[in-house]
Amino acid sequence: MPLESIITKLSTELDFQPITRVIWGEGKISSLAEHIQKLGSKKPLLVSDPGIVRAGHVERALNILAEAGIQAVVFDGVEENPTTEHVANGLKVAQSHEIDSIIGLGGGSSMDCAKGINFLYSCGGKMEDYWGEGKAGKSMLPLIAIPTTAGTGSETQSFALISNAETHQKMACGDKNASAKVAILDPVLTISQPFEVTSATGMDAISHAVESHVTLRKNAISQAFSREAWKLLATSFEGVLSTPDSVEHRGQMLLGASLAGMAIENSMLGASHALANPLTANFGIAHGVAIGLMLPHVVRFNSEVCESEYHELADVSGEPFESQLSGGERVAQKIEHLRERAGLPTSLKEMGVSPDAFPLLAEQAQEQWTGKFNPRPVTKIELEELYRCAL
Ligand SMILES: [Fe+2]
Repeated sequence: MPLESIITKLSTELDFQPITRVIWGEGKISSLAEHIQKLGSKKPLLVSDPGIVRAGHVERALNILAEAGIQAVVFDGVEENPTTEHVANGLKVAQSHEIDSIIGLGGGSSMDCAKGINFLYSCGGKMEDYWGEGKAGKSMLPLIAIPTTAGTGSETQSFALISNAETHQKMACGDKNASAKVAILDPVLTISQPFEVTSATGMDAISHAVESHVTLRKNAISQAFSREAWKLLATSFEGVLSTPDSVEHRGQMLLGASLAGMAIENSMLGASHALANPLTANFGIAHGVAIGLMLPHVVRFNSEVCESEYHELADVSGEPFESQLSGGERVAQKIEHLRERAGLPTSLKEMGVSPDAFPLLAEQAQEQWTGKFNPRPVTKIELEELYRCAL
């Protein structure tokens, strides 16, 4: 975004705190030991999951560290949608080795779990104590985040999504101290992801760019990140789906997802996330798939209050559209086009969700934190209607 655009969007106040150093480029995982040393760490805890172990990424990271004389401790017990139990298991490993830094290597689940372990190791208590924003209150161990998917953007924001193992309540625990000190974005690591993961996580990243661009908390700088993120993601998503081993497309997606993470850090998310979470909780629909089902409808719904913002996105989406269409319609059509190319489902009916479930889903969606930042207010009535649109 040109500088004039930021200046013209500035209002009277701005609160913007970049924390994470971002290292992006092919093969950059080789710099891991150097960054660990710069942080003064001698015994890092590497947090990952079995799939990343099988892909060989954990071994690669351990070898890079070992060559520099650094012996890392490994916790590879993370699973999708990490719970307080995964955090507790990782904490046990951390406490028995007196670690002095943490590396989160994997998708959003591994990076979030690494943050969760860091909260409890550094500040004590239980995960529930950190539910919300800014509850840590003291410094934490330095974290290096290495994403293997272009998706959540957890590497560049301070939130960890951890579910209560008993109640299944998803808790967003965020604190500036939990942010990674360094994010290493190596597109080669994302090549191992299967098509379904690339498509669902890519749609999630796209939604982060679109939602963060229009929230009530947005500011001029967060919008610059949202817009650049959208531009990268919207123009490289088809490329990464058709040529999954293209380092160029993978790199653009990875950087786009991280820029969207930076935008979220300052602007939060919107109604698509509020609507998607109950679909995941009640029907087991993967996060990115649920997002893909809801996002176009939320964009059309929001269109009447953020037309100019959507036009800004549509203008850089790399596709010509009929000029008489509204900004929201242009963006919604682009998302639907990408969703189709990604082979993602297009209706709730297709996913076995019947209208009978809508009242309960809408009630749960209303309780989601992210809905509060949506630019157009959403009550249970609007949320139920949005589910109906997606039927
Ligand atoms: Fe998301």
